[in-house]
Amino acid sequence: MTADINKRNVAVLGATGSVGLSTLDVIRQHPERFSVSGLGGWTNVARIATLSNEFRPKMIGVSDVEESSLHQALPSDLAKNIVPGSAGTERLAQQEAASIVVAGISGSAGLKPIFSALSSGKTVLIANKEPLVMCGELLKEVARKSNAVLLPVDSEHNAVFQCLSEDQQAGVSQSFGVTQGPDRSITKITLTASGGPFLRTPASDLKNVTKTEALRHPIWKMGEKITVDSATLMNKGLELIEACRLFDLPQHQVDVVVHPQSVIHALVHYLDGSVLAHLAQADMRIPIAHALSYPDRVDSGATALDIISISNLQFEAPDLDRFPCLSLARQAAEAGGAMPAVLNAANEVAVDAFLNEKIRFIDIPSLISEVMDKFLPKAPINLDEVLSVDQSARKIACKVLKKTFQS
Ligand SMILES: NC(=O)c1ccc[n+]([C@@H]2O[C@H](COP(=O)([O-])OP(=O)(O)OC[C@H]3O[C@@H](n4cnc5c(N)ncnc54)[C@H](OP(=O)(O)O)[C@@H]3O)[C@@H](O)[C@H]2O)c1
Repeated sequence: MTADINKRNVAVLGATGSVGLSTLDVIRQHPERFSVSGLGGWTNVARIATLSNEFRPKMIGVSDVEESSLHQALPSDLAKNIVPGSAGTERLAQQEAASIVVAGISGSAGLKPIFSALSSGKTVLIANKEPLVMCGELLKEVARKSNAVLLPVDSEHNAVFQCLSEDQQAGVSQSFGVTQGPDRSITKITLTASGGPFLRTPASDLKNVTKTEALRHPIWKMGEKITVDSATLMNKGLELIEACRLFDLPQHQVDVVVHPQSVIHALVHYLDGSVLAHLAQADMRIPIAHALSYPDRVDSGATALDIISISNLQFEAPDLDRFPCLSLARQAAEAGGAMPAVLNAANEVAVDAFLNEKIRFIDIPSLISEVMDKFLPKAPINLDEVLSVDQSARKIACKVLKKTFQS
C-alpha cells in the first residue's frame, strides 16, 4: 500500500461541472493516491454541498451570491472553509495544501484562477481552453518563471501529448512547446472533431436549428457552452489555437479532420513519415486520469476499447462553408496579438445570446466576424491588458448584437 505521504493533493476548480465531476470520479477510485484539498463551484449550491460533504475539502469556492445558501447547506465545520467570490476562487487556485490544480471552469472566467495557480508554481491540469486562447504565451511565461507544470487535459491535446517523446513532453509541461532546441521532428499535428450534431445538416436548414438540437451532442456529454462550440466547430477552432500555444506550433502545422466515431483523438506526424495516433473511448476520465497520475498510469474507470467493434473509422475534411467558425479561429491564430482574445470574447457573447434564444445558430459566426472586423487592439502584454481587450470586445459584441441581430 502506498503511504499517505505520497498522496497528491488536488484543488478542483469548476468541481460542479462536467470536467470537475469526471475528475472527482477518477479521484474517488484512488483514495490511496489522491486527496481533495479544495473544491470550487459557482452557482450550483446543492452539488457543491454534496461534494463537500463527501470530500471534506479545506477550501470551498462558490459565488458571492450563493455564499449564504451554501453556509446554510453545510455543517459548521465545513461552512468555515467557504472562500466566496472570484477572490475565493483565486485563493483556491493558490491553495498551499494543493500541489495539483484542475482548471475546469468554463470560459474566460477561468483566466485569473489559472494565472494564480501558475504563478504559485502548481501543476495545472488545463481543460479550460479559453484562457490559453486569450493569452497562452503570457500564461506560459508565468509558468516558466515560477516553475509551474502545465499538463493538457483537453482530450485532443492530451492525446497529442501522449504521442510525444519524453523530451518533448518535458518541453510542453515546462511551457516551452515541442520545437524548442534542435528537435524539429514533428511536421504537423492533426486534431480530430466529431463534427457535432449538425455534421450532416444541409446549410439551408442550419438557420432553423434550435438550442435543444445544438445541445444534443452525438458523442460527448459536456457543459452547455462547449457543446454549442462543438456544434459550430468553434470548439475545434479554439482547440487549434490551444494546440499552437501548448505545442508552440504555427497554425499551418495544426490540421483539423472530422472523424465522427471519435475514437482517434489526435495524430502526430513525424519527419520520417511515421504518424502516431492516440485511440481511446470518448470519456474525459481517460485524459484526466493520465494527467492526474502523470507519469504513472492509473485505471480511469472507462470501459475498455474494443477495436473490432470500431473497425469502421471515417475521416473527412471539415466543411468550412457550413461551419465558418473554424476559419475565423484560423484567421485569429494567424493574426496573433489580441485577435484570439477578441475571437474568444465575441464567441462567448454570441453563444450566450444563442443559449438565451436571442440569435439564431447561423448568427454566431456572423457576429464574431463583425467584431473581429471592427476591433483590432494592440497585442496585450500583461494580464490587465488581456482583461481590458476581453471587456472591450464584449462591449462591441453586445453593441453589434443589439444593432444587427435584434433591431
Ligand atoms: N466537458 C468536457 O468534456 C470538456 C472536454 C474538454 C475541455 N473542456 C473545457 O473545460 C472547461 C469546462 O467545461 P465543462 O464542460 O466542464 O463546463 P461546465 O459543465 O459548464 O462546468 C463549468 C464549471 O465552472 C464553474 N464556473 C462557472 N463560472 C464560474 C466562475 N465565474 N467562477 C468560478 N467557477 C465558475 C461552474 O460552477 P456552477 O456549475 O456551480 O455554476 C462549473 O463548475 C471548458 O473550458 C471546456 O471548454 C471540457
